[in-house]
Amino acid sequence: MKYLDSSKPLACLAPMDGFTDIAYRQIVRKLNPEVILFSEFTSTSGIQYSEKVKSRLDFHQVELPYVIQLFGNNPESFQRIVQELDGKGASGFDINMGCPAKKIIRSESGAYLMSQPDLACRIVESCVKATSSPVSVKTRLGFNQADELIPFVKKLESAGVGMVTIHGRTYKQAFRGEADFQPIYELKKEVSIPVICNGDIKNSDDGLSRLENLDGYMIGRAAVGNPWCFWSEEKRKAVTLKEKIEIMILHFKRLRSLKPEPLALIEFRKHISGYISGFQNAKAFRSVLMECKSEHELTHCALSLV
Ligand SMILES: Cc1cc2nc3c(=O)[nH]c(=O)nc-3n(C[C@H](O)[C@H](O)[C@H](O)COP(=O)(O)O)c2cc1C
Repeated sequence: MKYLDSSKPLACLAPMDGFTDIAYRQIVRKLNPEVILFSEFTSTSGIQYSEKVKSRLDFHQVELPYVIQLFGNNPESFQRIVQELDGKGASGFDINMGCPAKKIIRSESGAYLMSQPDLACRIVESCVKATSSPVSVKTRLGFNQADELIPFVKKLESAGVGMVTIHGRTYKQAFRGEADFQPIYELKKEVSIPVICNGDIKNSDDGLSRLENLDGYMIGRAAVGNPWCFWSEEKRKAVTLKEKIEIMILHFKRLRSLKPEPLALIEFRKHISGYISGFQNAKAFRSVLMECKSEHELTHCALSLV
C-alpha cells in the first residue's frame, strides 16, 4: 500500500539534516510503526560525485514508509537520480523547496525555488517521470508572503506533485515568529492533494488538535531525542527515565555501529538533551554524558543515572 492511501491522519518525522539519519530513523520506527520517516535532505549534485553523500540515503526495509528528500535545481539531475534510486524501494521522493540556509539559496535550491515556480514545476515533472512512487514537495508559506502559497501549490499540483508539506513560515521569516497554519487550511480548500502541516508542533496531541481540514502533521525539533513525541499524552506520561535511557543507549549503539567511536560520540551529543529533558538534575546529567570518551563510559554513565 502506498503511504498516501492511509485513511488515518499522516504522522511524519521531519527531514532534519544532521539528525534524521538511519540510526535515529530506526529508533523512531521501533517506537512508532506507522510514522512516515523522511531522510535528511541530500544534494542531487553531491550524489553524482560522492558515494559518501549518496550513502546518506541508505535505509533498511524496517524504516518503510520512508521518503527520500533531495535538494537541487536541475530537473535533469533530479530525473536521473530519482530513476537510479527508484529501484531501492523507498516509499516516495520529496523535493526540498523550503530550506532558507544562505548556502542553499545561493545554489538556487531549497526555498529559492518558491521564487521560480516554472523551474519548481519542471523539477516536479522530471521526478514524476522517473518513478511511480509519490513525489512530494516540502515548502513554506511563500518566499516573501503567505499569499504566494495557493498559486504556487496549485502549479505544483498541475505538475503532478502527490503531496505537499507546508512549514507555516515564509522564507523571509526563517525560524522567527510563530508558525501560522491559517494559510495552510486555506490552501487545502483549493487543492485535492494531501496537505501536511509543519512548524512548532510539540507532539501528536498537538498535531492532531491543529489538523482541521488537513491530512497530517510533521514534527521536527520536538522529535530530537524524543521519539515518544508521536505517542498520546497518556502513554508519554508513563515513560520512565529508565526506558528513556535504554532507548538512548540503543540509539547510540546504532550510530556507533555505523561510525568510528570518536565521531559517533561527537554526533550523539546533540541528541542527549532531548532524551533527558524534563527529568530531575537533567542539566547535571547532560554535562556528565557530554563528556564521555567511549561507548563503554557513555553506557555506564547513562545506566548509573537510573
Ligand atoms: C537542525 C535542522 C535541520 C533541518 N534539516 C532539514 C532538511 O534536511 N530538510 C527539510 O526539508 N527541512 C529541514 N529542516 C526543517 C524541518 O524539517 C522543519 O520544517 C522545521 O524545523 C519546522 O518544524 P518544527 O518546528 O517541528 O521543527 C531542518 C530543521 C532543523 C532544526
